[in-house]
Amino acid sequence: MTRTHTCGELTKKDVKKEVVLYGWTQSRRDHGGLIFIDLRDRHGLTQIVFDPSHNEENHKKAEHIGREFVLNIKGKVRDRKQGMINPNMRTGEIEVLVDELNIINEADTPPIEIDDRKEANEDIRLKYRYLDLRRPIMQERIALRHKIVTSARDYFNKNGFLEITTPMLVKSTPEGARDYVVPSRVNPGEFYALPQSPQLYKQILMISGCDRYYQTAICLRDEDLRADRQPEHMQFDFEMSFVTSDEIRKFVEGLYNHIFKEVLKIKLEKFPVFSYKEAMERFGTDKPDIRFGLELIDVTDIAKKSDFSVFKNAEQVKCLNPEKNLTRKELDKYIEFCQKNGAKGMTWMRITEKGLESSVVKYFNDEVQKEILNKTKAKKDTVLMFIADKKKKVANVLNLLRLKLRDDLNLVKENDFKLCWVKDFPLFSWNETEERWEPEHHMFTNPKPEFMKDFEKRPGEVIGDLWDLVLNGTEVGSGSIRISSPELQERIMKFIGLSKEQANKKFGFLLEAYKYGAPVHGGMGLGLDRTVALMAGLSDIREIIAFPKNKAAQCPMDGSPSEIDEKQMKELHIKPTVIKKKK
Ligand code: AMO
Repeated sequence: MTRTHTCGELTKKDVKKEVVLYGWTQSRRDHGGLIFIDLRDRHGLTQIVFDPSHNEENHKKAEHIGREFVLNIKGKVRDRKQGMINPNMRTGEIEVLVDELNIINEADTPPIEIDDRKEANEDIRLKYRYLDLRRPIMQERIALRHKIVTSARDYFNKNGFLEITTPMLVKSTPEGARDYVVPSRVNPGEFYALPQSPQLYKQILMISGCDRYYQTAICLRDEDLRADRQPEHMQFDFEMSFVTSDEIRKFVEGLYNHIFKEVLKIKLEKFPVFSYKEAMERFGTDKPDIRFGLELIDVTDIAKKSDFSVFKNAEQVKCLNPEKNLTRKELDKYIEFCQKNGAKGMTWMRITEKGLESSVVKYFNDEVQKEILNKTKAKKDTVLMFIADKKKKVANVLNLLRLKLRDDLNLVKENDFKLCWVKDFPLFSWNETEERWEPEHHMFTNPKPEFMKDFEKRPGEVIGDLWDLVLNGTEVGSGSIRISSPELQERIMKFIGLSKEQANKKFGFLLEAYKYGAPVHGGMGLGLDRTVALMAGLSDIREIIAFPKNKAAQCPMDGSPSEIDEKQMKELHIKPTVIKKKK
């Protein structure tokens, strides 16, 4: 029988039509002789009815239908009886009286409910992912992901990009995380790596004259997992030749505007641009959530004039003005929160009719109090929250406190999406454990021109032509203008401690390619999973990935990772000595 409609389609205008439906049994209800079944597919539910006076044989068969049985029916659409109408469902005004019934497959009782209101624990959901994915909300998320990917592809295609697939078996050139490696059978003792991103290949594509490349690329990284980190994630990865960083950012603004307009019918505001320094000063983070204010206020100079030794001796004193009064109990909780996150304490001051009130206010004379009020613009019946410490600690703690207040005081609206750029990051950061400078992003990023001559002499000051894209406080992309001169690339490699030999062994192919004329080029990797999750109003990217790994990087459904048998090992010329085995 050919399917005529989906289960989310029939309405009043279809009454009297003969239809053929396929779907899963969501529920069965026996009512005074009649049997009602909600038939489900990814488009919705349709109520089908078995009436013994209409067809006794079908009615008998229907008595044995259980949850998740797969059915095929032929029947006639009719109006639902008064009182049975469900205005919340697209198909809620009709039902289908069944003439023919085929039970395509029976089903065991499902271990999880196919119900958006009932969520099983994560490992069960992942073990029975095919059942979890049957839930309407999961179907919606998968469809949303598809829409976002399609709309992005359209935009790239319209803008002259070529979609080019880069290899999955590549040379191991770790980019920051550990590589996943694959042994080569035909080259005994040698390994491929799975790509952490197509970085080197896309640069080589620019040297190949491809001009504008993109790919929805799978990136594999062996790193510790978090809610927004998976061992395999996807990026809208792209690279452009003969462009400046401003042009790349303009293109991405166009891309995100296009996606949001097409998929969510939302018009985005212009993306503000912050330098790294400014973002750290104003928000305490390089991933500012700009949906709300509550910026960090620097009161170091004023605090120095007080007699409060904690403030006087601190490298920096900054505060937040939540423009709200908080109780003693609430403030104690925030103190505890700050301490848990590494602060020695948190000082608060309440603004009252009589002036500032706090256990430390005696150390602040009238003049200093006035200056604090002027600087913070704090109003009566509100509190100020201060952290005094080393600059890095102040930024860290106040960023977390700012985000906690955002959640506690409901400072953001639902469905509000704000993107911003953070640029001018330091090119190098100091690795304290290894006591060496390393690239902040990756070693292919161009330093800003003013540092080209002598970056080796002042590595801590060097600013790179690199930037991040931030959506609602989450980093959703990063990119840079790449080094296109072989000499400069070699200098950078040497500076971060790669000998000529090591550099050649690892990146010889790129350095060689540079010799034959490299265009000026740059690009970005945009986190597809994070973008989709945020657009779906979620923070956990596992919710929008069909088959994600759990927190231990395992897939409870297929049981990976797993041991392989001796024959496979032998073929790979590998004799493993497992030093530590899974318990
Ligand atoms: P980067 O490593 O910053 O840059 O990655 C780009 C973006 O990809 C997303 N992302 C992740 N999402 C989920 N799980 C992960 N484990 C994960 N790691 C990264 C983030 C991030 O901003 N080759 C460069 C890009 C370039 O310079 O062109 C790169 O991969 O949203």
